[in-house]
Amino acid sequence: MRKKIVAGNWKMNLDLAGSQNLASEICSLVAKNPLSGLKSAPSVVLFPPSVFINGVSTIVNDTPGVSVGAQNIHQNEKGAFTGEVSAQMVASCGATYTLIGHSERRSYFGEDDKLIAEKIAAAFKSNLVPMYCCGEVLAERQDNKHFDIVKHQVETALFWMEKSQFEKVVIAYEPVWAIGTGVTASPRQAQEMHSWIRQLVATRYGIETANKTTILYGGSCNGQNAVEIFAQPDVDGGLIGGASLKAEEFFTIISSF
Ligand code: PGA
Repeated sequence: MRKKIVAGNWKMNLDLAGSQNLASEICSLVAKNPLSGLKSAPSVVLFPPSVFINGVSTIVNDTPGVSVGAQNIHQNEKGAFTGEVSAQMVASCGATYTLIGHSERRSYFGEDDKLIAEKIAAAFKSNLVPMYCCGEVLAERQDNKHFDIVKHQVETALFWMEKSQFEKVVIAYEPVWAIGTGVTASPRQAQEMHSWIRQLVATRYGIETANKTTILYGGSCNGQNAVEIFAQPDVDGGLIGGASLKAEEFFTIISSF
């Protein structure tokens, strides 16, 4: 069976104490209600701000099934890049995943497909699992270009890899018009795009690999709509922003399988 994941992207929120409190609350909910009791037990990945990765990973270490990731890494291993943080640095603080290609990185920090592919390569070098985000903006969906846009994003960022490497990647489909807007994709819209992405993977790497690829949905997913979205056959969990900042609601999403 495919790996199910519910991930929390905390973005630029919380301070050290707030991050550690949230991580502790989530871990104690997970420990009290073991995920193994669910129909399909998801792994939980928390993405705190980079400066708190170490502080959060010391908390989650004792809770099986919960791990920590970085929201961003630099594409170079090291050097004179003032203010930047490398894959190796976040890995040494306890991160095992990294987000790459999030729409906020693309739009506010000008990250393009070439840079994103370089960051994915950097993640692999430090044994981080890349969680690759893709998705169309509203105008592209209104022009009926969303399938082409996502195809292009997935092909340029990921399809240069060998199959064995690709099989380590997690994909997150996040329609930009749904991120932080309260407007979520309908379960049907999510399913049709996830199925499209899986077909693309099948064409490039074969059906067996496609069936093993974890594809998450992100964009205003919350405690109310997660059950219906996660029930779609090609949706393997969620990348959650706003609703991951409240432990109870995040746990409701985790328990939505
Ligand atoms: P949202 O964010 O859940 O607040 O829409 C999702 C994301 O940006 O990953």
